[in-house]
Amino acid sequence: MPDQPSTDEATSRSRPPLVRVVGLGKRFEHGGRQLAVLDDVNLEIEAGDMVSIVGRSGVGKSTLLHVLGTIDLPTEGTIYFNGVDLSRLSAGQLAEFRNRSIGFVFQFHHLLPEFTALENVMMPALIQRVSQSKARERALELLEAVDLGSRLTHRPSELSGGEQQRVALARAVVMRPKLLLADEPTGNLDTKTGDAVLDIFFKINEQFRTAMLVVTHSPELADKMSRSLRMIDGHVEEVGRGHPYRDQAAEDAGEAEVAS
Ligand SMILES: Nc1ncnc2c1ncn2[C@@H]1O[C@H](COP(=O)(O)OP(=O)(O)O)[C@@H](O)[C@H]1O
Ligand SMILES: [Mg+2]
Repeated sequence: MPDQPSTDEATSRSRPPLVRVVGLGKRFEHGGRQLAVLDDVNLEIEAGDMVSIVGRSGVGKSTLLHVLGTIDLPTEGTIYFNGVDLSRLSAGQLAEFRNRSIGFVFQFHHLLPEFTALENVMMPALIQRVSQSKARERALELLEAVDLGSRLTHRPSELSGGEQQRVALARAVVMRPKLLLADEPTGNLDTKTGDAVLDIFFKINEQFRTAMLVVTHSPELADKMSRSLRMIDGHVEEVGRGHPYRDQAAEDAGEAEVAS
C-alpha cells in the first residue's frame, strides 16, 4: 500500500467533514472464496447530518455500519473522522475513539441482563471514567427523556421489547457521540414505540449535534431524515431527501421479517 498522509487532504478546508470515506471496500473470505460486500464506497457525513440508508437484505448495510463504527476493519480504503485517518490509530486509541465518539443501536439491544436499566445506561460512561455522580445524572436524564423514569431498577428481562430498545438508545448516547450508527432501530417496534424512538433521535441530534446514519426499511423514518442513501451492488448512492423507493422499502421489510 502506498504511503498515505495521516490526515485528510480536505483539512486544507476550514473544517473537514465529520466522516469522509474514500474507496472503502470490504471482502469476506468464506469457504476459500472472496466475497466482496463493500466495493468503492465513497461518502461524507457532516456534523449533525441525519442520514437514512436503504437497500435489499444482504446488500451490506450492516457491514458498512460495522466498518464505519470500527468494530470491523475494511479491506480497502480509508475512513477519516474529523480529518484523521482512523487506520493510523493504535488499538488502544481506536477503542477510546469508538467509546467516546460512536454510538451504536442494533436491532437487538444487547443489554447486560444482570444489570438494571439505570446501570446499563451508566456503563459506557463509567468505563470512560466519567464520575459515578455525573454518569448517574446523565443516565437519569436520558431515561426520563425516553419515558422510562419509572423503570430505573428493572432488569432487561423485566422490560418490554420497546422499553429495552429505548434503554439501549439511552445507553448509545450517554457519551454524547459525534456519530450514532443505528441498524434498523425501529424494526422490531410497533408504530407508536418506533415514533417515540424517532423523537428521541431528533432530540439528541438537536441537543448534541450528533450525526446519525440509520439503516431502515421504514419510509416514514427515511422521509424525516435530511439525506437518504441507497446501497446497491456494494456501492452507496446519494438519493436526496426522503425515501427513494417506498414500494421497494415495503418489499424489503417483508423480506427482512422472514430473514431475521
Ligand atoms: N463474517 C462474514 N463472513 C462471510 N460473509 C459475511 C460475513 N458477514 C456478512 N457476510 C455476508 O455479507 C453480505 C452482507 O451482509 P450484511 O451487511 O449483514 O447485509 P445487510 O445488513 O444489508 O442485510 C451478506 O451476503 C452476508 O452473507
Ligand atoms: Mg443488516
